[in-house]
Amino acid sequence: MKHTDFAIERLGTPTIASPVRNLDFVRDDANVVFYKDTRDIIPANGEQILTFEQAGPRDTIYHDPSWSRAAILTAGGLCPGLNDVIKFITRTLRTQYGVPVVYGIPYGYRGLNPEFKHEPRILTEADVDHIHEDGGSVLGSSRGRQPEKIMVDTLARMNINMLFCIGGDGTLRGAHAIAEEVRRRNMAISVIGIPKTIDNDLMVTDHTPGYGSAAKFVATVMKEIICDATVYGTNYVTIVEVMGRNAGWLTAASALAKGEDCEGVDMICLPEIPFTVEGFIKKVADIQNRKKSVVIAVSEGVKLPDGRYVCELSDTVQDVDSFGHKKLTGTAQFLANECAKRLNTKTRAIELSTLQRCSGHLTSRTDITEAYQVGGAAVLAAKQGKSGVAVTIVRISDKPYQCKTGTVEIEKIANLEKKIPVSWINDTHTDMLEPFYDYARPLIQAELPPFYVNGLPYHISNKQ
Ligand code: F6P
Repeated sequence: MKHTDFAIERLGTPTIASPVRNLDFVRDDANVVFYKDTRDIIPANGEQILTFEQAGPRDTIYHDPSWSRAAILTAGGLCPGLNDVIKFITRTLRTQYGVPVVYGIPYGYRGLNPEFKHEPRILTEADVDHIHEDGGSVLGSSRGRQPEKIMVDTLARMNINMLFCIGGDGTLRGAHAIAEEVRRRNMAISVIGIPKTIDNDLMVTDHTPGYGSAAKFVATVMKEIICDATVYGTNYVTIVEVMGRNAGWLTAASALAKGEDCEGVDMICLPEIPFTVEGFIKKVADIQNRKKSVVIAVSEGVKLPDGRYVCELSDTVQDVDSFGHKKLTGTAQFLANECAKRLNTKTRAIELSTLQRCSGHLTSRTDITEAYQVGGAAVLAAKQGKSGVAVTIVRISDKPYQCKTGTVEIEKIANLEKKIPVSWINDTHTDMLEPFYDYARPLIQAELPPFYVNGLPYHISNKQ
């Protein structure tokens, strides 16, 4: 990559004095260094080092706040912290910049296609005040593409000049398509992508907000599952299926369960490592020779050497979603059945399924704080007249954990899946190695207990 790869075009020169007061404005030439390892910083060929534009407030802005109309949507699979991003974008636009109209677009990109007849709603500070208490997204979501020409016609009709699209790779590709259409029509609309996915599979950004909370959930329930599985002292194989499609980040988070109070999982099966059923059964049998209870974390996306998903071997119905992705489910049940058939053992299959992305009662405070940071950075990028860009998280250090936000063209972040490095798992696939722990541990730190009523977390926004 060259240093120019991260250069970002603007809709025009920001000339309007920012209405925000009492802030340290970021200078446009104060970029964030891309590398983590200082040895990489010395350019071999005399080129400039690779940097991102630093997110943050500037003293001049492009879009005149009093004439601005913004819109926010969430698309794709749910992820913890979506409401926090919606809240912070709305508050920053309205309170800090005085943008009079902020629309919430319902049901993702479908909400921009009149065919679906979804009504946008106006979001005020009061509307979003408590939504962070709830999991899910107050705006709803949808998967799949919508024609960008129709969506841009809608933006034009609604006089929107800033669009914020929150989600994973599909959502960011949708935002990119809209930004390109806006560019073709020479319109002054800032389209900003905000990465939010439990899959953590986007390039360039250190991690995706949402991953930390889902990782905390996976590691927590894994501890509880291990506790249950070891209590009987009998032969028992428990297989826990974790989401993440083709990237094993969330499955790897099961390793975080290990500590002085928990012996941890016995095997971790990542989609990055080719899988054979025979090899798996042999490993389980070997482990069970040493200990009766075996707990295994398996990714929903583990694949056979011929590229088929293991779940395709099961007789579970394999639907296709609106992106054409095969629905991945049934891996744990299939493997548990194989163990039961071939080994003299009790088995149990646990599919964490939607619980790992909707459990608002168990989030990481670090992750939720970053949801606010990316929301704020997105507003600042839009105000500066950037378009077709996504907010990134740039890790400055692991110990102490420190991050900054940056912005990068969406194409750089959403076109390739970021896989977990296979050098981060040990040879026997029984544990993750130190680089993974250094990477993931900071992301799950601290808690945000929900607001309880009658002994249960209270879902405030569902009442509205
Ligand atoms: O993209 C997020 C994600 O949670 C993936 O990890 C998972 O494969 C997929 O969504 C499942 O989506 P759905 O619940 O729509 O089948």
